[in-house]
Amino acid sequence: MCGIIGVVGSNDTLGTLLQGLARLEYRGYDSAGIALVRPGQTWRARCASGTESVAALRVECEDAPTGFRSGIGHTRWATHGAPEAQNAHPHLDCSGAIAIIHNGIIENHTELRGQLEAKGHIFSSVTDSEVLAHLVEESRAAGLDLMEAVRASLLVVRGAFALAVMDANEADVIVAARRISPLVVGTAPGVTYIASDVPAILDRASAFYAVDDDEVVRLAPEGFRVIDLEGVPVRLHQLTIDWNLETAEKGGYDDFMTKEINEQPDALRATLLDRRRRDGTITFDEMRISDDELRDVKRVVLVAAGTSHHAALVAKYALERWARIGVDVDIASEYRYRDPIVEIGTLVIGVSQSGETIDTIQAMREAKRRGARVIAISNIVDSSLAREADAVIYTRAGLEVSVASTKAFVAQVAALELLALRLAQLRATLPPDDIDALFLGLKAVGAQVKTTLERRSAVAQVAAELIGARDFFFIGRHVGYPTALEGALKLKELSYLHAEGYPAGELKHGPLALIEPGVVVVAVVTDRAMREKILSNLAEVKARGATVVVVATDDDEAIGAVADYVLRVPATEPMFSPMVDIVPLQIFAYSMARGLGRNVDRPRNLAKTVTVE
Ligand code: AGP
Repeated sequence: MCGIIGVVGSNDTLGTLLQGLARLEYRGYDSAGIALVRPGQTWRARCASGTESVAALRVECEDAPTGFRSGIGHTRWATHGAPEAQNAHPHLDCSGAIAIIHNGIIENHTELRGQLEAKGHIFSSVTDSEVLAHLVEESRAAGLDLMEAVRASLLVVRGAFALAVMDANEADVIVAARRISPLVVGTAPGVTYIASDVPAILDRASAFYAVDDDEVVRLAPEGFRVIDLEGVPVRLHQLTIDWNLETAEKGGYDDFMTKEINEQPDALRATLLDRRRRDGTITFDEMRISDDELRDVKRVVLVAAGTSHHAALVAKYALERWARIGVDVDIASEYRYRDPIVEIGTLVIGVSQSGETIDTIQAMREAKRRGARVIAISNIVDSSLAREADAVIYTRAGLEVSVASTKAFVAQVAALELLALRLAQLRATLPPDDIDALFLGLKAVGAQVKTTLERRSAVAQVAAELIGARDFFFIGRHVGYPTALEGALKLKELSYLHAEGYPAGELKHGPLALIEPGVVVVAVVTDRAMREKILSNLAEVKARGATVVVVATDDDEAIGAVADYVLRVPATEPMFSPMVDIVPLQIFAYSMARGLGRNVDRPRNLAKTVTVE
């Protein structure tokens, strides 16, 4: 998730760009860059200094030439290509006159790059984005103006983009376009802006407009005009922005946790984008493990902590069911101290949002030391875990700021289930048609999550009615069990209330002694195959006075007879259900915490990344 900003007609171009990039850093930053453009000259500066990239760029720009009225800027959160200066945006075409910045993923970049290199284009980065600069160069060379050149280029592009392009041969013009990744236009007298998010231009523009999918905008100092990809003029939707800056950085939401819960459909889309070739083969970012080695894997061990451990538990069911391979899941901090047996053919998978959790890094190091091949599932590109692994699958959920992990969890489950499908492909443990159907089902989960998000007020109402409760059990069976664990963790870490997650079948082996009036039992009852068993567990707790909350599918009419509260979700393939069923539990935990006056983004005693053992 990168940050984009551009301005035309300004008398403070450099200041506008640098201030805007600083405002966009929360979107992710491992490098930053700007391009200043005037007739006949494109001047560029780029820095790859991690979280200090924008600060380093500011220093770099102290020597920038003056007199530019227009420019673009970009803060990068890498998806393709390491976070090095050569991969930082803006990217230039061969002539150096055309500069482009991009947020998103060009799915067919490999194919396009091959075609462009065959025509003699020289690439200077390993990013997918750079193909856009050379595509526009081709169209400009064919005599198209910048807006038509961008439109023609986008007709051959597949994937997600929010981009801005400038050309020293058509100065004081920015052409921008959007598909999936966000983009807004801002206007002020004699100046026009483009940005990924409102915060970047909040105190400079006086009117704001949303760019919708497949719209191309031409910005000039006096204003802008818009066409769709067919060249038909369209109008932009004007936004009502009455936010202050802090609210704007949260996308207009009250806090980062709400923003990130609502970003889950986009996180799932980004995780699954560009993951399947036309022939159906499932592919990963930096899978430096050969197909033969993957095919010969005899056992999988997943190591992780907290929420990532719960995603790993879901993966166990998918790997064993679809790839017919034995799986162990270890708490990372326990793994390295149990003298683990690592036999030939053992694949260890480290799962981590930050990629910096020392418990998980040390567990993966121990596995490598004992001869295992290791894969990292990381949300941060080039994290320590990713750098030390033999292969990486990035979850591309976008920066997760709130300490409580939400969108990273669903993205991790999606990435791990994708890996399970890849292993099923290699081991031929599922018919290709079944794998295709499951892949398409996985792609559809984002829409089901979106439907569930629209029901947040019903969940908040249940939380309000239970605000006085102090003891919670979360129960589930099969993949409903890790969902219950994650729901309990969310409630614990956000509201500071006591909550435990348990396999539903385990209650009668002890915890049932704790059930009494006032205790709340939250049950995940969305898997038809497990439903009867869980209903009998619910009868046991209700008979002892518990208050029962269930997560149940829309078509389950009878559930109301055994539950005091029902949190409804759309029915889905059971293996996908944790990504949908967790949403009401995230909202429940959030609502309880807000009702108790907790700081939902910064819970007491916790840190976003635990880099100590
Ligand atoms: C999740 O809400 C918690 N903040 C915590 O359990 C977290 O999942 C755990 O610390 C692991 O972090 P990681 O995914 O970055 O490795």
